[in-house]
This record gives sequence, C-alpha cells and structure tokens, in this order.
Amino acid sequence: MAVGVFDSGLGGLTVWREIRERMPDLPLVYYGDNKMAPYGVRDADDIYDLTCAGVSRLFEAGCDLVILACNTASAAALRRMQEKWVPKDKRVLGVFVPLIEALTERQWGDNSAPREVGVRHVALFATPSTVASRAFQRELAFRAIGVDVEAQPCGGLVDAIEVGDLILAEALVRSHVDALLRRMPRPEAAVLGCTHYPIMADTFQEALGPGVQVFSQGRLVAASLEDYLARHPDMYGTGKASEFLTTGNPRSVSDQATRFLRQDIRFQSA
Ligand code: DGL
Repeated sequence: MAVGVFDSGLGGLTVWREIRERMPDLPLVYYGDNKMAPYGVRDADDIYDLTCAGVSRLFEAGCDLVILACNTASAAALRRMQEKWVPKDKRVLGVFVPLIEALTERQWGDNSAPREVGVRHVALFATPSTVASRAFQRELAFRAIGVDVEAQPCGGLVDAIEVGDLILAEALVRSHVDALLRRMPRPEAAVLGCTHYPIMADTFQEALGPGVQVFSQGRLVAASLEDYLARHPDMYGTGKASEFLTTGNPRSVSDQATRFLRQDIRFQSA
C-alpha cells in the first residue's frame, strides 16, 4: 500500500508534505532525480526518458500509482507515457489537472464541456519547458472559455532553490513577476506551475500584490489524490514502507531537503 511521488529534484517535496499531512498513514515513496535536475531546460525526449526511468523505479518499490509531482514532466512526458508506456495495472497522474479544476471551479474529475468561469486573466509562472509545451493552456481550454493566459518562463529559479540560494531566488521571482506584469498588468489569478515555487510563495504574493489570488499545487493535489484513492482503492499498491530515493548524492540531497522543508528528511540511493 504505497503511492509514488516523482520529481526532478526537491520541488515535489512541497506536494509530498501536503499528502503526508492529509493522509498520515499512507506510505509514500519519493523519487528525486537530483542528479539530472533541472528538467526545465531539457528537451521533451530527454524528459520522457528520465521520467520513465524514475517511475519504473517507483513501480519496483511497490507503487501501483505514481504522482508526477513535477509540472515539467507532466507537461512534456505524461500524455506520451499514458498512451504508450504505462502498464495496464499501473497509473501515473500529473499535477496540472487538479490545479486547473480548482481554477475553473470544478469538482475533481468533472469532464463536462468548457464554460465561462470567474477568472479572465491568469498569470502562469513555470519552467521554460513547461511554458514551451503549452500543456497548461491546452488543459485549461478543455474546461474554460475566454480565459487569457500570460506565461512567464522563470529561468534560473529552480537551480537557485535546489542549491538553497534564497536571496537569488527572491531576486529572480521579483524580476519574473515584473516582466509578466508589463505584459499583463492586472491578472486576477496567478498559478505557480512548478512544484519548487511554493517555497517562494510569499515573495510571489508580495510582488504580485494582495489583489491576485496565488494558486499552488500541493494542497490541491493532495485533496484530489485522497478523492482518487477513495474511488480506486485497488491502486494502493503492495509497498509498505515510506522512503526517499535520489539519483544524487544521498547525504547532500538529505541536507538540502532538510533545509528546503525545514524538517529532517533522509534520502537513500535510488
Ligand atoms: N519542480 C518541477 C516542476 O514542477 C521541475 C523543475 C525542473 O526540474 O526544472 O516543473
């Protein structure tokens, strides 16, 4: 009974933390491909290969259901994986859909026709690969009509967060927000479309101003996972232990993760 959580590095821990809080008894196996992070500057084939390798390792660890707690992998690889690669008895779910369902005021899994929604101007902050994929706009168009999305590729931000340089991360957030506001002066909502960015949520909110509703994924993904498991109890998997796996150096990744989440996290080699 274990669920897998995949990310290129530490960002997925913001999703892990919310799942852990919501379902404290659910064993979670976390996989961070820290050696190959960041994914946000890689091409789609590369991201696909790396994501399949990580997800295979999570299947081996007894997970039948894996959450791609990585927008870049969800945007660049998930559809292809679901169409061609995921075995019939396994599931791989991404992080876009719960976020877009919340933004468009839908119940989890409501696939009815697109309709008008409350927000009209949405700012999207994400990695260069996620922005280039236009996956967010595509998923949004399935659900909402007349929403204008302005996307800002936040180059450098994941690297700064991964190495714990929060002064650089703060400066980058402010300059990326400025660049976006020059193109869309009054967004009603902003989406943090990378699981690393919630670490900088206060800076985003401050730079955007109090009138902008900032959406981040952790809590939304945890709520939709709970709902999904209630509807699909067969997807709990056979694994029993919670663990943290990394392709990087376990000792330094553990130290970074502990700083990142401000709680003791111990990784082992994937
Ligand atoms: N945290 C990931 C995301 O949500 C990955 C960022 C990266 O590796 O560039 O996009």
